[in-house]
Amino acid sequence: MRRKLFAGNWKMNLGPNEARALIAELRRELDPQAAHLSRDRDILVAPPFISIPAAAQALAGSSILLGAQNAHFEDQGAFTGEIAPTMLKAFGVSHVILGHSERRHIFGESDELIGKRVAGVIAKRLNAILCVGETLNERDRGATLEVVLRQLQNGLSAVKPEDSKRVIVAYEPVWAIGTGRTATPEQAQEVHAALRESLRDHFGRQPADEIPLLYGGSVTPENVEALIAKPDIDGALVGGASLKAASFAAIVRAGRPTE
Ligand code: 13P
Repeated sequence: MRRKLFAGNWKMNLGPNEARALIAELRRELDPQAAHLSRDRDILVAPPFISIPAAAQALAGSSILLGAQNAHFEDQGAFTGEIAPTMLKAFGVSHVILGHSERRHIFGESDELIGKRVAGVIAKRLNAILCVGETLNERDRGATLEVVLRQLQNGLSAVKPEDSKRVIVAYEPVWAIGTGRTATPEQAQEVHAALRESLRDHFGRQPADEIPLLYGGSVTPENVEALIAKPDIDGALVGGASLKAASFAAIVRAGRPTE
């Protein structure tokens, strides 16, 4: 049984004070159920870099994990505007989201750069959440699997088999992000199954079968259950609905509502 992961990507929202307030609310919602929930799932929040110290403080004693939204592949040096993996680790960050479609499409990050970032964070013993996903145009011309498999293979090209435990993959169709238009569970499962096959080629069957594959793109408390009921969908990467404690807590409880 793979553990599930529910991750909130706050994107460029919530400064330190707001981060503290949201985490306090989330803890009021989730702490009483922490032992129950942690049996089969992990919960993670990924604030903007500047809010990570405040978030780390607010999470003290909680089982909620702390993530970052990017990281450089080197650990120090002349890289204006970048943050090193070790700097993140110093605040208790355990996971780094890499290759998000906003990094790819707004900031022009290439498959090659993303692959270097993935290898860089894993070298520092952090977990990489590698995001892949096709645009609407790519889906319409039947190129979905070709695109996501290329992104997956390039993203993982420098990851050694023994590091498969540090890999998480998130399938986020670009046309579903922030649009209110979710992939159907069947559409998502089809892509996840292809990702799983490709991971088996790269890492071997058993290690690949342990890698959590998350779905992201307009996930809500209403649609999450049907998504995670699919065999290869192991959780969610949540944008907008992770910015409110009630909706994120409801998503996190999917399939495990009460004791
Ligand atoms: P939304 O949930 O707002 O569609 O964002 C998804 C996403 O990009 C998470 O990384």
